[in-house]
Amino acid sequence: MPDRRGDPVPATGLYVHLPFCASRCSYCTFTVTTRRELIPRYLAALEREPGLGSLPEGTRLATVYLGGGTPSQIPAPALARFLDRLLARHPLLPGAEVTAEANPEDVTAELLAAWAALGITRLSIGVQSFEDAELAVLDRRHDAARAEAAARLALEAGRFAVNLDLMLAVPGQDRPSLGRTLSKLLGLGPHHVSVYLLEMDKPHRLRALHARAPERFPGEDAAAEAYLHVHDVLTGAGYEHYEVSNFARPGHRSRHNLRYWLREPVHALGAAAHGQAGNRRWANLDTVSGYLDAVESGTRPVAWENRLSALEALAEEVMLGLRLAEGVAEGRCEAAARAIPAFGETLEAFSGLGYAEADGGRVRLTPRGWLVSNELFAELV
Ligand SMILES: C[S@@+](CC[C@H](N)C(=O)[O-])C[C@H]1O[C@@H](n2cnc3c(N)ncnc32)[C@H](O)[C@@H]1O
Ligand code: SF4
Repeated sequence: MPDRRGDPVPATGLYVHLPFCASRCSYCTFTVTTRRELIPRYLAALEREPGLGSLPEGTRLATVYLGGGTPSQIPAPALARFLDRLLARHPLLPGAEVTAEANPEDVTAELLAAWAALGITRLSIGVQSFEDAELAVLDRRHDAARAEAAARLALEAGRFAVNLDLMLAVPGQDRPSLGRTLSKLLGLGPHHVSVYLLEMDKPHRLRALHARAPERFPGEDAAAEAYLHVHDVLTGAGYEHYEVSNFARPGHRSRHNLRYWLREPVHALGAAAHGQAGNRRWANLDTVSGYLDAVESGTRPVAWENRLSALEALAEEVMLGLRLAEGVAEGRCEAAARAIPAFGETLEAFSGLGYAEADGGRVRLTPRGWLVSNELFAELV
């Protein structure tokens, strides 16, 4: 649909944050709430938000990502009503990718049938581990058998591309337990796997446990070894390690997440949701109550909004590009190194250590380089 000046409105990705969870896991710092009674109010606010300017009139959707929180906690008829109204105003492009996150304990044949009918094409299931002891320390509500059953149901439904999330460096994880988790995962054969090293930068219960009992956690060397082991095992089984934390069978990369890394437009609805379009970046208020109050009083619920300078845009392009296996055009890296000499020096040191390599006019990080990439990226922010 053209905009008021007659220009076509570019298609966008859309992230929708659904913050409801049955309980908070021991490592989680996302914007979530256990107050299910707020679901109707929250969905009403999500419906109202595009009208407050969050999604330009006439924008069509190339990808939709229902993330959380736990989208599988939203009753399917309520989710259907919300999506129907959203998509009536913002139609999907043909072949659009529509992802929803689900927790294993919610994955049933009924949920999958309802979600397929809603047009969901991709499921992301938070398995984390196939070891009961690790799941217990993560305070997950599922055990390994439930995770396996959920993944099998989702794959056998034949209607979805399936991602399974795993976590590394969690207490009690060692090479044998990781080996068992990976064998089970490969036996299931999902289309996509996301693998996250346990993040400890924000306060959560596991961080407090680490302060009291660091010996219960794999050390930095063990975590690095685990990451490189996962790389070897998954690439050996035919998965492409296409981004720092993401592996896909050929043809199954996450199109929505690629939009962030390739700096394509992604709009955002819901508490704590982040958007990007051109050089504009913004984030919504990151509490559910703040978000509801803003939308209900007719105000766009943004916490901040800014426009990247030319240098910030270049730094972002290089940083996000280096997260990808395809890397970044050499000329862009050189431009960033000229503008930010400390970045150039660290990149040169990375090359010397075998953490970065250049060929075919592109600069790429190796898996060892990805492991320490925060050091390089710190020069760009
Ligand atoms: C938006 S979250 C949660 C989605 C869903 N509710 C679930 O728990 O499966 C997506 C993924 O982020 C990862 N994650 C969350 N907190 C993390 C942390 N502190 N460190 C590493 N990974 C984390 C988990 O693997 C999780 O599945
Ligand atoms: S279920 Fe997912 S979003 Fe909810 S608290 Fe656990 S990790 Fe966080």
